[in-house]
Amino acid sequence: MGRVGDERDAARDEAAHQLQHREAAGEGQHDPEGARVLPAVGVPVVVTVPMAVAVIVVESDAPRLPRPAPPVSPAGARVWQHLAPMADTVPTPERRPDLEPRVEVLLEALPYIREFAGATIVIKYGGAAMTTPELKASFARDVALLKLVGMNPVIVHGGGPDISRYSDRLGLEVRFVQGLRVTDAPTMELVKMVLVGKINKEIVAQLHVAGAPAVGLAGDDGGLILAEKASSPDADLGFVGRVAEIDPRVLERLRDFVPVVASVGVDSDGQSYNINADTVAGRLAGALGARKAIFLTDVDGIFRDVSDPSSLISECRLDDLRDLMASGAVGTGMIPKLAAVTDALESGVGAAHIVDGRVPHSVLVEIFTETGIGTKVTA
Ligand SMILES: Nc1ncnc2c1ncn2[C@@H]1O[C@H](COP(=O)(O)OP(=O)(O)O)[C@@H](O)[C@H]1O
Ligand SMILES: [Mg+2]
Repeated sequence: MGRVGDERDAARDEAAHQLQHREAAGEGQHDPEGARVLPAVGVPVVVTVPMAVAVIVVESDAPRLPRPAPPVSPAGARVWQHLAPMADTVPTPERRPDLEPRVEVLLEALPYIREFAGATIVIKYGGAAMTTPELKASFARDVALLKLVGMNPVIVHGGGPDISRYSDRLGLEVRFVQGLRVTDAPTMELVKMVLVGKINKEIVAQLHVAGAPAVGLAGDDGGLILAEKASSPDADLGFVGRVAEIDPRVLERLRDFVPVVASVGVDSDGQSYNINADTVAGRLAGALGARKAIFLTDVDGIFRDVSDPSSLISECRLDDLRDLMASGAVGTGMIPKLAAVTDALESGVGAAHIVDGRVPHSVLVEIFTETGIGTKVTA
């Protein structure tokens, strides 16, 4: 018999030897006819066929079995040279202390991701968080992250500073009563142009860039916000509206997207109203059964005394808030905001947060960390 035949015979003997060895160890099953081999997963098996030696490795997630004993014959040893490295591929874990702080941050977020999976979170996005391109981008990334980990963020935005700037340019008077913008007919037209035409589309574009497809809406889309004229004892506020009714069906149809709602409502005659964005956010949170309502603002949170930075309230109950409002310690834009907080909590929203929108990623910090940064109010 020639060299090739000798080698083939030796390899066949060796394979039979190995199979017997594994069978004895309970690692696989050997067909007595020698025609078919039922290998144990993860264990390389040598099968002899008339003209060649075939090596079959059955891949599996199961743990590797103990390495079989090395062969004795020279031909078997040559085959073994190829098989041995495969048996040594189990990785040894490597410690990376430099990664631990990052891992800790991710792990701290885990219970919150679990708790709020599938939950609706209404976020009022205000002027202060819209001042720089960096803040805009950081806000969009926060919202994209919430969406991608399974929450349902709904954005309600105002745009006061932009409206005031364009009013100045067009020579329209800017006037506020109790934190509400007095809105005559030309101002109402401008409010729609700036809020719906400009700011809403900018936010949608930012979210698109951040990887969360968004849909922009105003109150008239899908009949989302039915408005009526707001009455004020102090002055005629013009086309300043209040929410008469929310019909959230259009938002339910948009579940795959992040809805971005401009705070403009429409009455049954088609007249548009300028509604404070905090007011819309509070009502929408209630109508959607949101777990949280987050109000971004231009201060750290709610102060007992707005002139005393040490009086920041980090957590309080709705009753404390009512007392604070009755005491006269709340002024200007914080009045409609705290009314919206009250409205949301009375409608069953789990918690309301007043958070500094000037701080990048304040939304993430408030949702995903133990302490948060602003004021948290619960019923
Ligand atoms: N007790 C209070 N705590 C915090 N802010 C207050 C308080 N009273 C009045 N404010 C004022 O409310 C403002 C926030 O409302 P606003 O100007 O409408 O901004 P935005 O709507 O962007 O949040 C703050 O800049 C602050 O001056
Ligand atoms: Mg405001």
